[in-house]
Amino acid sequence: MGVQAVILVGGQGTRLRPLTETRPKPMMPLFDRPMVAHQLDHLARYGVTEVVFSCGYRPDALEAYFGDGAGFAIRVRYVTDPIPLGTAGAVANAVPAFAHPGDVLVLNGDILTDLDLGALMAAHRVSGAAATVALTPVQDPSAYGLVRLRDDRAVREFVEKPSPGELIPGEPYLINAGTYLLSREVIESIPAGVACSIEREVFPRVAAGGGLYGYPSDCYWRDIGTPQSYLEAHRDMLNGAVPTAGVAGEVYIGPGAVVEEGARIADRSCIGAGSAVAAGASVIGTVLGARTRVGPNAYIEGCVVGEGVEVGAGARLVGLVVIGDRARVVPDLHIVGPTIIDVGEIRTAAGDGNAKGH
Ligand code: GTP
Repeated sequence: MGVQAVILVGGQGTRLRPLTETRPKPMMPLFDRPMVAHQLDHLARYGVTEVVFSCGYRPDALEAYFGDGAGFAIRVRYVTDPIPLGTAGAVANAVPAFAHPGDVLVLNGDILTDLDLGALMAAHRVSGAAATVALTPVQDPSAYGLVRLRDDRAVREFVEKPSPGELIPGEPYLINAGTYLLSREVIESIPAGVACSIEREVFPRVAAGGGLYGYPSDCYWRDIGTPQSYLEAHRDMLNGAVPTAGVAGEVYIGPGAVVEEGARIADRSCIGAGSAVAAGASVIGTVLGARTRVGPNAYIEGCVVGEGVEVGAGARLVGLVVIGDRARVVPDLHIVGPTIIDVGEIRTAAGDGNAKGH
């Protein structure tokens, strides 16, 4: 029997707005494929044959792209939360869609990693854990769930988003890496139909009973939930951090994209499929979505530009300017980030060059 996995894809992705106004975060493109497609490739390599997408916000986009999963040799199904159920409620709601009982892998849909899932599953079996959580080391755990282990790797303590006073200087900061193996016993202990969080409710309870184990790993790991980390994920992959992705190189130019002679694409930029960069334009350390047009002599550095955007001639965007899908940046407009462009404002700004950040 193959391995079963639930991928949590129901969040609103507020930190990536306005890019997540047109798609759920796991459908954010990474080299012209939704990031969750890279996750399915990873799961397939470790014998996962059944995936349930636990949906909430904008589920249609996922179903339209993945269908029944035939293209990935994985059987894919979709379960949509009737109300926001939190991460644990969503898992409990999704699991009855599997045909067979057994442990379930659970993944956040916004993590890019080459975690050895085979080793995680083996560690889970050896320890006899009720649940095993993958852990990754970070410098600053304040935005994550800090996990403290005993010598046998049983979880001693789970501190969600620790404040500075809760940190012990010099300790290794291991955080919840958003990949878990849950036994049916743990899943069945989640109350049905009400909001419940894996991180805040289930894990502290299972840890208190001695059944939660950690699986620390130095593998590549990145949460792509913010514009900065989304940009960094592209850089990492071009740098070869995820060799299986097959996209390593100085830059990525998508299928059908046209870079005119005299345009400069550099520093791990990604030019989405069907885009066009005109002569004299520079795109440096930037992610351009599909079907975006960059006019002559425009200069874009360190930015995240959505799909179908038009950047006018001579416009200058520098330093983590995030631009939503189908926006139009008027010619000669200069914007210095970090800023998120209000899509409506910049669309109507044609002619007067006003841009509004927030
Ligand atoms: P932000 O609003 O930017 O924090 O993003 P988010 O809503 O996606 O939240 P977060 O990054 O904490 O979520 C981690 C993963 O769990 C993401 O893949 C979400 O899609 C998913 N997720 C979060 N909450 C829920 C939920 O209530 N139901 C389901 N099905 N998935 C969820």
